[in-house]
Amino acid sequence: MSRGDWEAKCSAIKEHYLKTSEEAASLEALEELQIKCLGRKGELTELLKALKDFSLEDKKLLGPLGNSLKETLSALFEARKAALARLETNSQLNAEKLDITLPAFPVPSGRLHPLTLSLRRMADILKSLGFSWAEGPLIENEFYNFDALNTPTHHPSRDQHDTIYVKTEKGPRNLMRTHTSPIQVRYMKTHKPPLRAFAPGRAIRNDSLDASHSPVFHQIEGFYVDKNVSMADLKYTLTAFMGGLFGPDAKIRFRPSYFSFVEPGVEVDVKCVFCKPGEKCPVCKSTGWIEMLGAGMIHPNVLKAGGLNPDEWRGFAFGMGVERLSMLLYGISDIRTFYENDLRILKQF
Ligand code: DAH
Repeated sequence: MSRGDWEAKCSAIKEHYLKTSEEAASLEALEELQIKCLGRKGELTELLKALKDFSLEDKKLLGPLGNSLKETLSALFEARKAALARLETNSQLNAEKLDITLPAFPVPSGRLHPLTLSLRRMADILKSLGFSWAEGPLIENEFYNFDALNTPTHHPSRDQHDTIYVKTEKGPRNLMRTHTSPIQVRYMKTHKPPLRAFAPGRAIRNDSLDASHSPVFHQIEGFYVDKNVSMADLKYTLTAFMGGLFGPDAKIRFRPSYFSFVEPGVEVDVKCVFCKPGEKCPVCKSTGWIEMLGAGMIHPNVLKAGGLNPDEWRGFAFGMGVERLSMLLYGISDIRTFYENDLRILKQF
């Protein structure tokens, strides 16, 4: 190759790659060009290799020419590659544009059951009155569910029409507890008085299901045992409790009643908060009072069953239905609403 040929080839390479690198539309195309020009067997690489056959004088002249072209083209390729990469990123960003004003997909969230909510509310009030949370077994036995609560041996509530008995190996017959009152006695046996506790839980009766009855329901038992507990303490506690639940103006009244485990026993009514003047009230049937719970002074026999000396200790106890209170709180008229788990209803709480 003559010197002239070499020079001509050099400027042809320069021109060709200046043009084609400008035209290359993708990073891949550009890389291909770069290899064709500057790779191990690239055109410019080969041309530089060919210098070895030239005279020293020619080398001195052509060498710098070739090297400077190599530098120029290398820089050019790098600059073009960077420009193309930027362009590609930009078009990608444009194509993947997010519309942040679009409404988000709703995230389904769970929530607490209305009975859980109202139970927690009641528990909070009782805790604020100094009562502790207590629990007892759902499968009870006849002793705690009846005998310890002074229920006569032939009382009809023991009948299988009311109580569901379960298999028992030996000792007192096992049953599904029909109320939360047995927890009173269990608590007395395991704690030193003075005692102030409440026991929320499920109760089960051999009942049918209708708008106001359910074979499975929930109760809260409350009790207070100390040296000088009186009916006045009971009335104060229940007034404060109902006040916390239905508002500070809530009024209660006691009516004499009978439960084997208290003496005297009372039925507690709350002044109807739903009555509107001049209108018939469907909640209290216009009697002005709503029957709410049972209560009384703990019977000496129950204290004895709990291992306490009735000459030394006195106490009050009350028991109420969580469903009943919740129905009044939420304005629900059918107890089955709580168990059907209709999301349209559950979502409102
Ligand atoms: N255990 C009763 C029931 O299930 C409710 C009850 C009434 C509880 C009077 C009491 C009480 O502690 O004093 O119907």
